[in-house]
Amino acid sequence: MATGRAKVAILISGRGSNMAALIEAAADPGFPAEIALVLSNRPDAGGLDRAAAAGIPTKVVDHKDFGKDREGFERALDGVLRTHHIEIVCLAGFMRLLTPWFVASWEGRMINVHPALLPAFKGLDTHARALAAGVRLHGATVHLVVPEMDSGPIIVQGAVPVGDDDTEEALAARVLAVEHRIYPLGLRWLAEGRITVAAGRCRVAGATAPDDVMIAPRL
Ligand code: GAR
Repeated sequence: MATGRAKVAILISGRGSNMAALIEAAADPGFPAEIALVLSNRPDAGGLDRAAAAGIPTKVVDHKDFGKDREGFERALDGVLRTHHIEIVCLAGFMRLLTPWFVASWEGRMINVHPALLPAFKGLDTHARALAAGVRLHGATVHLVVPEMDSGPIIVQGAVPVGDDDTEEALAARVLAVEHRIYPLGLRWLAEGRITVAAGRCRVAGATAPDDVMIAPRL
């Protein structure tokens, strides 16, 4: 994957703002990956129009056509990905749990963005739960996908302060802006072949930990 531009599919279920951030990053010819396909499990996903407007091929594999046959749905997904010679899969608000079979067939080549500082707040309603827990720092995570939901080696995280008067909406918007910054970084590093995993931890070749500290609140 370190030579040429890696072919990427973005899997969406909704509005696709993270998808749009990845498309924008990959519009730079110096970016090491090209967005070759946007795939949705919902025909009404808003992101499909956004992708088409950006000139990206789109495809729908509607999970409802497969009823309870989760594996049939995933075999159809996998078939489309292979037909398009996809090398890396980015989950971007893709709201279907994936079976171990599908995850295993894309192991090390599939990443996800999650709106929380994992392993805190896996699952849904992360911002409401962060507010209820009273955390002072919240954020977003890009990680390699493993069979267990919202787990997997962490590639990059971004943190934001939580204000006393934050609403769920305000916090969601602040975190989403972080998602849009860190997801292209995670994809870039994976496509550049910088990421290795040992004992469940990612190492990003050439990266260092910044030495700044975020303390919240401040008086
Ligand atoms: C994003 O906040 C993403 O982190 C989240 O869904 C939203 C999709 O928004 N994903 C998850 O919660 C996965 N566990 P988008 O369609 O505008 O990118």
